[in-house]
Amino acid sequence: MENTIIVTGGAGFIGSNFILQSIERDSTSIVNLDKLTYAGNLRNLEAVANERRYEFVHGDIADRTLVRRLLERRKPPAIVHFAAESHVDRSIRGPDDFIRTNVDGTFALLEEVRAYWGNLAGQERIDFRFLHVSTDEVYGSLGPEDPPFSETTPYSPNSPYAASKAASDHFVRAYHHTYGLPVLTTNCSNNYGRFQFPEKLIPLMILNARDGKPLPVYGDGQNVRDWLYVEDHCEAIAAVLARGTVGQTYNIGGWNERRNIDIVETVCDLVDEIAVPLGAPRRTLITFVKDRPGHDRRYAMDATKIERELGWRPRETFESGIRKTVRWYLENEEWVRDVTSGSYRQWIETHYSS
Ligand code: NAD
Ligand code: TYD
Repeated sequence: MENTIIVTGGAGFIGSNFILQSIERDSTSIVNLDKLTYAGNLRNLEAVANERRYEFVHGDIADRTLVRRLLERRKPPAIVHFAAESHVDRSIRGPDDFIRTNVDGTFALLEEVRAYWGNLAGQERIDFRFLHVSTDEVYGSLGPEDPPFSETTPYSPNSPYAASKAASDHFVRAYHHTYGLPVLTTNCSNNYGRFQFPEKLIPLMILNARDGKPLPVYGDGQNVRDWLYVEDHCEAIAAVLARGTVGQTYNIGGWNERRNIDIVETVCDLVDEIAVPLGAPRRTLITFVKDRPGHDRRYAMDATKIERELGWRPRETFESGIRKTVRWYLENEEWVRDVTSGSYRQWIETHYSS
């Protein structure tokens, strides 16, 4: 068997960081299966585009014939499944694509992987892994004094996005329990870093702040998220893939809870420091807007299990990670221009029009 892993959704934010990191770290070859939705961007992978150990396959995880042929052709020892619709606000406006990709797509992938794995023998069958990348949002919302989510917290998804990810997590679990498929699931908190599509909080705020546009904070801005630098997340996934116990789930987090308003103020101050100054501090651009329906109040992750069992802990501090991230968005104008044309503008206009 070749040492080639299949990554789904590798042209997105986390998947592309994972591919770049993996190719740099060791001798792994990677096939990236991605549909290239609005969130997929091959520019993220320019550094490896001509690399012998990297192949891009344009396609849908729900296309079973394509997936079957790919598995037969490349015979991977592992699959890392990132592909998903990932934006809560879009799931509220139109959940269909979330069911199609996150639920039906994951199911289709599991079926083809089960057939492929069923035909493996000996050590190859024992060593095979299907790693499913999921989110902390499946656990629902915490009160201010609640302990953080652990791997045993009951699922309580509140948004269509969270419900679709929870459904996919359950299917992955069931394929292990029923068929013995060697799966691993990771549930991670909010990521930030380079290549994140600027519909998400941090890149949206960086770019609006740069341009002197209003900074739309939902509700009272007191919602809390746990933030993890994307490269730390990718290292955690690599650790789970290499050393995780089959059938287990691992919570991944940054030990870094912050209120949204504090995140936005930090971004304002950094943009003031690094970009061309405006007439007034960028904090004056902060505008409180109508809240997201069903907006979860607080997420927090207890990531002791992955530290105890696999020795992983985040390396980046929030202060250094957010500074790198702001700098990256300000220095990569071409990337930004590329992704903020066309359908992006339309989303911003429709979503923030009220
Ligand atoms: P993203 O939206 O940036 O990228 C998703 C990628 O999947 C895109 O390249 C897209 O083209 C591709 N894709 C979508 N539908 C597809 C389909 N049917 N077939 C093949 N490819 C398809 O997402 P992201 O932020 O990189 O998130 C990756 C994974 O991590 C998701 O499963 C998400 O639920 C999970 N996650 C994300 C975060 C976060 O903060 N971004 C946190 C925890 C977990
Ligand atoms: P987001 O980046 O969409 O991630 P998620 O909803 O998956 O946590 O949003 C992070 C937080 O920021 C969330 O509480 C919603 C809030 N938010 C705003 O206040 N304004 C915005 O324009 C966006 C996109 C998000």
